[in-house]
Parts: sequence; C-alpha cells; structure tokens
Amino acid sequence: MSVQSPTYYIRTFGCQMNAHDSERMAGMLESEGYARVEQPDDASVVLFNTCCIRENADQKLYGNLGHMKALKDTRPDLRIVVGGCLAQKDKDVIQRRAPYVDVVLGTHNLASLPRLLRESTAGPAFEILEQTEVFPSALPSRRMSSWHAWVSISIGCNNSCTFCIVPAVRGREVSRRLGDIVAEVESLVADGVVEVTLLGQNVNSYGRDLDGTPMFSKLLRALDRVVGLERIRFTSPHPKDFRADSVAAMAECAAVCEHIHLPAQSGSDSCLKRMKRAYTRSSYLEKVRMVRAAIPGVAITTDIIVGFPGETEAEFQDTLTLVEEARYDQAFTFQYSPRPMTSAADLPDHLPKEVVQERFERLIALQNGFSLESNRRMLGNTFEVLVEGPSKKDPSRASGRTRTNKLVHFLDDGATQGSLRTIRVIAARPHHVEGELVDGPRRDAKRSMSLPLVGAGTACDACG
Ligand code: SAH
Ligand code: SF4
Ligand code: F3S
Repeated sequence: MSVQSPTYYIRTFGCQMNAHDSERMAGMLESEGYARVEQPDDASVVLFNTCCIRENADQKLYGNLGHMKALKDTRPDLRIVVGGCLAQKDKDVIQRRAPYVDVVLGTHNLASLPRLLRESTAGPAFEILEQTEVFPSALPSRRMSSWHAWVSISIGCNNSCTFCIVPAVRGREVSRRLGDIVAEVESLVADGVVEVTLLGQNVNSYGRDLDGTPMFSKLLRALDRVVGLERIRFTSPHPKDFRADSVAAMAECAAVCEHIHLPAQSGSDSCLKRMKRAYTRSSYLEKVRMVRAAIPGVAITTDIIVGFPGETEAEFQDTLTLVEEARYDQAFTFQYSPRPMTSAADLPDHLPKEVVQERFERLIALQNGFSLESNRRMLGNTFEVLVEGPSKKDPSRASGRTRTNKLVHFLDDGATQGSLRTIRVIAARPHHVEGELVDGPRRDAKRSMSLPLVGAGTACDACG
C-alpha cells in the first residue's frame, strides 16, 4: 500500500451499538479518503472498538494491542486507535499499559476521530467526554450491508440494573428527534435498504427525554409508513417499560417483524429485586402472554444471567420454570461476571465458578430443547426469507432470516443478497432450520395475514 492512500482496519467487539459506531467511524475515515483493508498489516490506521461487558475484555484488548506494538515497531507511522466502552472506562489504564496507542476516544466522541488522528501526529491524542447532551448530528456511515441498516434511536440508559456497566460507559439516555429518525430511514430506503434495526438500550423509553412521554409506538407507526421499507426490527425493549401501545403497534404495523427480544435476566423475584430490574416474574410473564395473544406466530427471545451474587438453587429453579413457561425461541445465556462501577460487584455471596458452570449447562440444555421444538413447528411451512448471502459454514449454501429472526440455510440458486424469497422448512436444528426455495409469490406475514403458512398436520406457534 502506498503512503499516499491511507488505509484503515477496524475490529469491533460488543453489541450492535458498537457495530453501528464502527460503521460511523469507518464512514468518517472513508470520507477523509481512507480505504478499508481486512488485515492490520495493510493498514495505516488500526482501530479497536471495544466492549467491557465481559470480564476478559481487558485482557483481550491488551493482547491485541501487544501485537500492534510489534507491528508499530516495524512501521512507526502506524496509528493505533482505541474507542468504545472500554476506552470510556479505562482511558488512564490504556495510557499507562499501552503508551504507544495514538488515539483514545470515548463513546461520546465519535465525531472527533478525524481531528484526533490529525492531532496524534504530534503525540498521543486522548478525548473522553462524560455525557452527550443532545443526540449527535448524523455522521457518515459505511454500512456493512447494502440491504440492512442499524438506526440509532437513543443513546445511553437511565436504568440502574445492578450488574450492568452500560450506564457508566454510555451515559444518560438521550433520544433522537423522531423526524430525524424518519428522515434517515427514508434516505436509507432510497439507497436500497429494506430492513432496519432500531437501536437503543431501552427502546421503550424512547422519547421520554424529548417530550416527557415515551413515543416508541408512535415511532414504529411513523416508520411503518415509509414506502419500500419491508422489515423493522428493534433491540432491546426493557420489560418494565414494554406496554400495550407498543404491542398494538407491533401487531398492526405491516413492516414490524414478529419477533421480540425481551431480556428476563432471571425468573426469581428475589433475584430480580437484587438486580433492580423493576419487574416481577408474573408481570414479565403477563407481557409474554400479551405479546403472544396479539401477534400470531411471534418469536420471543431473551437474555438470562446465571450465577448472580447470592443466587440460590431455588432461585435458579425459578429461572428454569420461567424458561418453561415463556417457551423462548432462543435465549442468550450469560454467566454473571462482576464489573467495576456496578453495585452488584459489592454484593455478598459471589458463587463459585463450578456452581455457575453447572447451572449454566442445565439452563442451556433446557433451552436447547425449546429452541428445537420451536424450530420443529416450522417444518413443512413456508416463510418469507431475507437473503443474507453465502452461509458462513458452507458457502455453497445461502443463509437468510425469517421475519421471526430464525436463521435459515438453503441451497443457493443464485439468490440475490437482500432479496425476499419464500422457503419451505425441511429440517429443524436447535439454532437454525434448513429450507428449500419455493417458486411463486413471496409470503408475507401481516399483508396476507397468514404467517406462518400452516402445512398439513403441523401447528403454528400461536396455536401451540
Ligand atoms: N440494554 C440491554 C442489555 C445490554 S447488555 C437490556 O437491558 O436488555 C446485554 C446483556 O448482557 C444483558 O441483557 C445481560 O444479560 C448481559 N450482562 C450485562 N452485564 C452482565 C454481567 N455483569 N454479567 C453477565 N452478563 C451481563
Ligand atoms: Fe444495562 Fe439495565 Fe440499562 Fe440494559 S436496561 S443497559 S441491562 S442498565
Ligand atoms: Fe455494548 Fe459492550 Fe458497550 S455490550 S454498550 S459494547 S459495554
């Protein structure tokens, strides 16, 4: 690579917010003339966009930085940038442990990246703001996909779940103006996007800081009117704020997908109280019932933490029975890890690793059974699939997702990425299904009011 054409390599850790922040950092660099490369060796700027939710995140970062140090020794003009949540938390530690890092920028400072890179020619440039006061104006974005886009609707979080470091590194909640979100989505659709995922730590409180009342359902309805937008997804609603108006909007808006990720964390009231989740097992399950009753064929997924401080076997049993009652399509399971700046880290009775591991395995075994059962209910039925491209495991096959967010692998007939096709499910596994493409018009959930299209002798999710 010639010195005249600067290049960047970016590695992203963590959640969808970070993935989207990376798209924006990439977009800014590309608008400054940088070209993307897939290997750090080829890059003039190497960027790590970090997460701090997992315990070993720090070790991983310093391991990666160690490799970059070796590279920088051979190429002193290499610029190393650390951004994201761990940078926000650990600015001083990074400076001490990896003094060769050129730029550290926090989660509120994305827009400063090009300036900080310029300043770093004179020495390390570090910038961490504590809080964003107004939603930042749109930054250029280099999307990872031509048909899908992440759309940030709010940043930060006003909750105080005792295990969670996110409020400490992402600040207080700031919502984006509804008109700005709609305008962005319209321009994305004009650019070929057919599916958007709305991002916020607690999407259901969207708008509370703008006019005092949450406006998430209003936002869904406004986006549903964007012509050409086929699918709207969002992540995540907080169960305490998820209300009937959002369920109604989900049920009535043709583009809103029949999938909700509703993180439970635990099925035990006493544990939920120690976690400060502000809902109970029964109020949570009531919301699950409300969603199932209103949205035929809906898929429900969740997050669960195993081994929260003081978790007794009886409390863990409550989580297992919650899983049995909720019948999730999928659960993301986490072993509790104490994070600095969180109050749970100071609670007594942290559990031994073996106890957590054993419970974790029991939970996964239970959920795998339900995941498989829910995928088996798809057998013989046809579904609309948005084609994502070649399967990661077997590139001779293609992958896509149903509106219910089920991963489908199917024999590729040259299906175009981003196109909507119809597949019939021919085999079910716990974490994906296999399908075959079927000719004819694509099947569409709410527009035809017939998803899933029930095959002979099979039951749909709604009727059990
Ligand atoms: N805002 C989202 C959660 C973001 S963090 C929400 O409220 O749903 C994503 C998930 O990581 C959480 O749902 C939780 O299950 C898990 N998690 C967060 N902190 C954790 C910790 N200290 N130990 C284990 N899992 C954790
Ligand atoms: Fe963390 Fe709770 Fe906020 Fe989610 S809602 S980001 S778990 S504090
Ligand atoms: Fe996301 Fe990790 Fe930050 S989960 S908000 S990247 S701490």
